[in-house]
Amino acid sequence: MILVTGGAGFIGSNFVLDWLAQSDEFVINLDKLTYAGNLENLASIEDGLGHHFVQGDIADADLVSRLLAGNQPRAVINFAAESHVDRSIHGPEDFIQTNIVGTFRLLEAVRAYWNGLDGKDRAAFRFVHVSTDEVYGSLGKDDPAFSESRRYEPNSPYSASKAASDHLVRAWYHTYGLPVLTTNCSNNYGPYHFPEKLIPLVIHHALAGKPLPIYGDGQQIRDWLYVKDHCSAIRRVLDAGKVGETYNIGGWNEKPNLEVVHTLCAILDELQPRADARPYREQITYVKDRPGHDRRYAIDAGKIERELGWKPAETFETGIRKTVRWYLDNQAWVRNVTSGAYREWVGKQYGN
Ligand code: NAD
Ligand code: DAU
Repeated sequence: MILVTGGAGFIGSNFVLDWLAQSDEFVINLDKLTYAGNLENLASIEDGLGHHFVQGDIADADLVSRLLAGNQPRAVINFAAESHVDRSIHGPEDFIQTNIVGTFRLLEAVRAYWNGLDGKDRAAFRFVHVSTDEVYGSLGKDDPAFSESRRYEPNSPYSASKAASDHLVRAWYHTYGLPVLTTNCSNNYGPYHFPEKLIPLVIHHALAGKPLPIYGDGQQIRDWLYVKDHCSAIRRVLDAGKVGETYNIGGWNEKPNLEVVHTLCAILDELQPRADARPYREQITYVKDRPGHDRRYAIDAGKIERELGWKPAETFETGIRKTVRWYLDNQAWVRNVTSGAYREWVGKQYGN
């Protein structure tokens, strides 16, 4: 059995779905169900069959301790976080609370549990902390991609809070010997991505006839990875990663934002043309830039490739097409998220 935190969010839910498709090992899923948590993402799983959902906070040490003691997982995979940069600029408090205090409380509960394990179980236990490339800060046009030894230079409240959590995880390994692994991944995209982030927002706005907002000049570069590839990398790190190490995960897909939006518009022109047959890119609108906007991220994924033999299965071209298709085929999911109706899902599915 494994314990996943944040498993009702974008990446966590993809991870749980992929895990259950490939393994019969039980998953306990602890998620607070903030605005970003959506149990509808997990609707295809019957609760109790390989998966049990628990609504709760990683900062609730008593709850986490009870879950650990009662279920005896062999690993904890920590996805739970506040994840949206723009929200962190408007209100950093939740980011400090969950990403820093929450990770601290989780680490303490896990440490106490791990200390109580004996022999083989203690040696086999792993804590995987899922983090981001944003902790490394911003690259210039010709700088080499982020390697694992790159200095931390976080620039937003979000990335600063994730950097703090990475430091706590590192310290719990060096000081207490907790068997941790940290992953730092680039921008994900794919199914169940909350439409506040660039790719799902652009697809949703395009289809709704709304403006496609480009921050600043649209020449900021992100390094895109299909979410299922991120999930396979995390599984690989859990299986074969060296305790105490960090692994950068990326898809070698650096793209300026404007190019990503043009690509999305072109795929939509083909798969779902506008009623007036005009191109979707006419909806592009330049808006005020994000404060402190990082110019470029790029991941050097050489270490995980060399040491763990992991490679992404999707190119940007194949992954982005699958993603647009998924959104077109799952308009009810988008409607429920954007109308807020997904919040009623828990009551509908679980009765309370
Ligand atoms: P998300 O915002 O979609 O999901 C986060 C989930 O965590 C939600 O289900 C939310 O309800 C839950 N959560 C929030 N606070 C919690 C708390 N205190 N206790 C328990 N659950 C809580 O985020 P995501 O995009 O799926 O990201 C998952 C992880 O991966 C985060 O740690 C993020 O920093 C990291 N990451 C994300 C990306 C990306 O491109 N999205 C890239 C690299 C790393
Ligand atoms: O790099 C990994 C990170 O990627 C993760 O750690 C974060 O959790 C995740 O949210 C993501 O952060 P970004 O800020 O890069 O993603 P976002 O989708 O918000 O923005 C992508 C780029 O697009 C960024 O340069 C800002 C720009 N943008 C975004 C939005 C929402 C726009 O130009 N217009 C928009 O409306």
